[in-house]
Amino acid sequence: SKLEMFVDELPDMPRIMAYQIVGGASKSNSLNIGMFKKKWKFHRDLPPTPVYAYGLTSLTATVPGPTIEAHYGVPTYVTWQNNLPPDHILPCDLTIPTAVNNKTNGIPTVAHLHGGIHAPDSDGNPNSWFTAGFEQKGPTWTSKGCHYPNNQQPGNLWYHDHAMGLTRVNLLAGLLGVYIIRDPSIEAPLGLPNSNQFDRPLVVFDRSFRSNGSLFLNSTGDNPSIHPQWRPEYFGDVIIVNGKAWPRLTVRRRKYRFRIINASNARFFRFFFTNGLEFIHVASDSTYLEKPVSTNETLLGPSEISDVIVDFSKSSSNVAILANDAPYPYPSGDPVDEDETSSKVMKFIILPNREVDTSRVPKSLIKYPAVDLANVAQTRYIAMYEYASSTDEPTHLYLNGKPFNAPVTETPKVGSTEVWYVINLTEDNHPLHIHLGLFKVLDQTQLVQLKEFKNCMTELNDAIKCNIGNYTRGQKVSVPDHEKGWKNVYKMSPGFVTKIVVRFSYIHTNASYAFDPTIEPGYVYHCHVSLFNSLIFPLKIIRTHIYM
Ligand code: C2O
Repeated sequence: SKLEMFVDELPDMPRIMAYQIVGGASKSNSLNIGMFKKKWKFHRDLPPTPVYAYGLTSLTATVPGPTIEAHYGVPTYVTWQNNLPPDHILPCDLTIPTAVNNKTNGIPTVAHLHGGIHAPDSDGNPNSWFTAGFEQKGPTWTSKGCHYPNNQQPGNLWYHDHAMGLTRVNLLAGLLGVYIIRDPSIEAPLGLPNSNQFDRPLVVFDRSFRSNGSLFLNSTGDNPSIHPQWRPEYFGDVIIVNGKAWPRLTVRRRKYRFRIINASNARFFRFFFTNGLEFIHVASDSTYLEKPVSTNETLLGPSEISDVIVDFSKSSSNVAILANDAPYPYPSGDPVDEDETSSKVMKFIILPNREVDTSRVPKSLIKYPAVDLANVAQTRYIAMYEYASSTDEPTHLYLNGKPFNAPVTETPKVGSTEVWYVINLTEDNHPLHIHLGLFKVLDQTQLVQLKEFKNCMTELNDAIKCNIGNYTRGQKVSVPDHEKGWKNVYKMSPGFVTKIVVRFSYIHTNASYAFDPTIEPGYVYHCHVSLFNSLIFPLKIIRTHIYM
């Protein structure tokens, strides 16, 4: 039987303050955040689901986890504590190089603050995993505590598990949550909706359930003779927002701010409102835009963020459905059909009376120094290539033909600017995420004679030796205005070269990273789909070391 939509209220996750106000000044708090196995109600009519949840205590742990609130320049200290019992609630494929292959007696986990600018030993490197009570640790694990300087501009981050080979299942089990950095001195003058009632994170992901309420993950792989359980992508038919299936929210006739995070493993969402309401974008990923941009739809790859204002006073109806029509897989799959359950996200019930609304959307938001393309320290070509078995099943994905455990090839300097040409030779769009780096997408150019180029790349794995310039002669696609700001993830279109300009470390940080770059862990960059779909079988990550 199908679950009825729009019967549960949209939850607001508990908030954890990473700072306290002492005598008018903001001071750091030290947090102990646990990971707990518990049961979670995703829908009124669904039996409670065994999950892994982040929280201060088992009782208060939630899916998604609590929203952590930080202040600009006030560091957060977190000890992430693994309290998970030894048997995973989801099937893990032990034939892939995972943390559990190290014969752990517990479940390896490591939290990563996505979008954070911090030292590598606090970055949640996949090999820095640890089991319950820190009993066993991965090869790059260094200390129990994580230090997030929050020395970056205000914006939306999120934290999620990042353990080697288990990220996919640990995320599906519930290990993710929102982290907001606020800077009242910059943000208050903007006048955007700013109370917890009118400023709400929306964490959206898809899941499938068995009738007993447990999460369903098909445990037979697409290519069982090679990897019995591995599937490159996970798609669920139930859309969850803030931990409830297709929830509803009653709103007043005024402006709201929604920080929308696509926390799915593989599903892209192209969100739109059924009654034509607009999204007024004020930020994307972890940074504000320079100016607000209005659109009728917003396409988010896994781990992308749209931070939008929605003005319900503009609605002619009293109901607005937030809907989705993105194909899955994106873009090669079929578009979501209107009667598919994944075409609906949540429902807004708009109260009839117009309200006095003192919040506003200013003409301009935050200005950044212009990128100086004449002073680029390095130009790099990064090719994503999928290798297939004789039956055409994907078996692994490499960057420039190199697996994760190959020696580091990208060694940018802190504070430097680089241009990367990301060449997507696969069939699917890959949301590329770079740790520590913030980038602007300049343009996307279609490759011509793709087959010939692919053949050369399979052989040489070197875009320059394969004369990339001869192939970048297709149509140029410009970047939508609301995605022209600084991003930490972007959708790499298949058959295209995406040109990005990356700044390593930050626009207004003065943090110094005093570490030895010859020692692990360093930073990683990766496709967020492959990350979720079993980092690291698809070996799509190359470690990035940052030299001082
Ligand atoms: Cu959102 Cu490397 O992660």
